[in-house]
Amino acid sequence: MSFTLPPLPFSTNALAARGMSQETLELHHGKHHQAYVTALNNLVDRNAALKSKTLEQLILLSHKDSALQSVFNNAGQHWNHCVFWESLSAQGGRMPGALEKRVIADFGSVQKFQEEFKAASAEQFGSGWVWLVLAPEGKLKISKSANASSPLASGEGRVLLTLDVWEHAYYVDFRNRRPDFTENFLSKLADFERAAQKLAQTQAEPVQPARAPAAQAARGQAAHGPQPAA
Ligand SMILES: [Fe+2]
Repeated sequence: MSFTLPPLPFSTNALAARGMSQETLELHHGKHHQAYVTALNNLVDRNAALKSKTLEQLILLSHKDSALQSVFNNAGQHWNHCVFWESLSAQGGRMPGALEKRVIADFGSVQKFQEEFKAASAEQFGSGWVWLVLAPEGKLKISKSANASSPLASGEGRVLLTLDVWEHAYYVDFRNRRPDFTENFLSKLADFERAAQKLAQTQAEPVQPARAPAAQAARGQAAHGPQPAA
């Protein structure tokens, strides 16, 4: 059984009026994300020890193992992109009250949260990701990771939301202007409703490592596709 590219949770033209074009989504999802899935399947096919592993297990197994760097890169990018598609919405940018309260409590204000998020995006040198996580100590935090890494790999917390800051995510629509792409994400695309749902779900569960994107698990992916860590 192979990993499969999950469908987008919206049509490829659904976000065009909010700054993410159909061309970007067709390339980013249909070409870039597909390439990670294809490469991962090829790597797993050639290594019997990997064939029974879930996506999360592959990420944790290959993290910091130089012999499995390619597995980590492609498994990580598959997982990261699944989270990213769930972090976008045509009704994005609106923060529900319950999440806003937590943001104010943990960052000081919504504005400070946005400033910290934008700074993380700007300071991530080269390719990477910006994350909103529930840290192990119970506070919301922003973190950034390089290339294919993530809070799942580093143990920094449970992921609620992410922004892909690889250049392929924004070059068609924003050219080299990553700050404008980040501002547009926070104001028009970020699915804070789903982030709030993930926060509520996470707080209702016992403390565990980061879990797979909820929609992925719900879609019943392939036998060793994204699954809950529980
Ligand atoms: Fe990407």
